[in-house]
Amino acid sequence: MKAHVLTLFPELVKQPMEHSIVGRALSRGQLTVDVLDIRSFATNKHAKVDDSPYGGGPGMVMTPQPLVDAIEATRALCQKPWVIAFSPAGRLLDQARVRQLVAESVTDGRECIFVCGRYEGIDERVLDGWCDEIMSIGDYVLSGGELAALVVIDAMARLVPGVLGNAASPDEESLEQGLLEYPQYSRPESFRGHPVPEVLLSGDHARIASWRRARALARTRERRPDLFARLTLSAADKKLLES
Ligand code: ADE
Repeated sequence: MKAHVLTLFPELVKQPMEHSIVGRALSRGQLTVDVLDIRSFATNKHAKVDDSPYGGGPGMVMTPQPLVDAIEATRALCQKPWVIAFSPAGRLLDQARVRQLVAESVTDGRECIFVCGRYEGIDERVLDGWCDEIMSIGDYVLSGGELAALVVIDAMARLVPGVLGNAASPDEESLEQGLLEYPQYSRPESFRGHPVPEVLLSGDHARIASWRRARALARTRERRPDLFARLTLSAADKKLLES
C-alpha cells in the first residue's frame, strides 16, 4: 500500500510512524508513506501559506497556491491518485470506510494523498476543485489534519495483508461486525481481589464463545446505542441478552 501526506509539519507525521505495527510495515516495505512539506511549494518570497479570511473572522486560512501545487505534483507521481482532505466538516470515518480504502489501495493500486489542513481551514476552492473526499475522524476539533492522517494510516496498515501476521485476524474484531469488543483478561487469575470470570478458565469453548458474544452485545447496547440500533439480532442473540 502506498500513500502520501501533504502537511506543514512533516515531523509530526513521520516520527509516530516509526514505531509499532506501522513502523514494522514501513521497514518491511508492506507500506510506503511519502511525507511532503506543503511550505516547500510556496512560490512567494516568505514561503507564506496562509492569509486572513475574506469576510472577516478569526484565524488564518490556508491559501490555494502552495496546496494546489503540492497536490498536483503528488498526483503526477501516482497512477491512480485519490485525494482526501481532513476537516471536522468532513464525512465521518468508520471501519467500513477503512476497509474500502484498503481494498482500493491493495487491489486497484490506488494511492491516497492525504491533505492536512491547519489554521482555521483550507480555502474552499481547493476542497471543491482538487480533493476527492473530505474526511473527519470524529466530532471534535483537532489543531490540524496530521493526527487524523496518522489515525487513518494506522487503521489502514493493520488491514494490509501480512502486516498483522496470521495470529491476529482483523475480520474477527468487534467493530468489523458492528459490535464493541468483548472484555479480555490475562494473568494473574486474581488481581487485588478481582478474579477473572470463571467461564474463561473452564476450557469449554462453546460456553466461552457465547459468554463473549453476550458481553459484546450487552456492552454495545449500553455504550453505543447507535451501533446497537443497526444490528440484526438472531434469536440466539436475543436470548443471550435476556440472560
Ligand atoms: N481537523 C481538525 N479536526 C479534525 C477532525 N476531527 N477530523 C479530521 N480532521 C480534522
